[in-house]
Amino acid sequence: MTITVTLHLLAAVLWVGGMFFAHQMLRPVAAELLEPPLRQRLWVGVFNRFFPVVWGAVITIAATGYWMLFVTFGGMASAGIYIHIMHATGLVMIAIYLYVYFVPFQGLKRAVAAQLWPEGKGHIDTIRDWVGINTILGLVTIAVAAGGRYFH
Ligand code: HEM
Repeated sequence: MTITVTLHLLAAVLWVGGMFFAHQMLRPVAAELLEPPLRQRLWVGVFNRFFPVVWGAVITIAATGYWMLFVTFGGMASAGIYIHIMHATGLVMIAIYLYVYFVPFQGLKRAVAAQLWPEGKGHIDTIRDWVGINTILGLVTIAVAAGGRYFH
């Protein structure tokens, strides 16, 4: 449990913290300072570095989460409500990430390679919206998961 919950938490911190930084700090400054071609190349470069971390986080969170749920806690029935909420919002977050990775991110890479900047902007806007939603979901999930067991 010590190792599994620690890995689970580190993965959540890297994923949600990375999204928060990208969405709240990097995005507004890049939009203000950079013209579309440079801005879109910046995002492809940033995502090429961040998304492998997110793949690692998603796999770690799911593996350690299900291990704790089924091996340590003995299954869904004996888990508290906060674990069910975390499980549900966690699955939604993973689904959103898979969509962002396989649809708009692949589209953005194709658009940037072909220098189709208006098309690239459309994909960046889609990624921005879904990453914004996932950041909020991630913060809520952490709050529910960490505070849940003390809530009576
Ligand atoms: C497949 C989805 C997930 C499953 C099955 C799962 C399962 C679990 C389980 C069984 C625990 C141990 C609870 C306890 O010690 O009382 C836990 C802890 C935790 N999880 Fe998840 N989890 C999932 C996704 C997530 C996600 C996406 C996040 C955050 C973005 C998250 C954040 C946390 C946190 C912060 C804790 C620590 C709670 C504490 O002990 O203080 N989990 N998770």
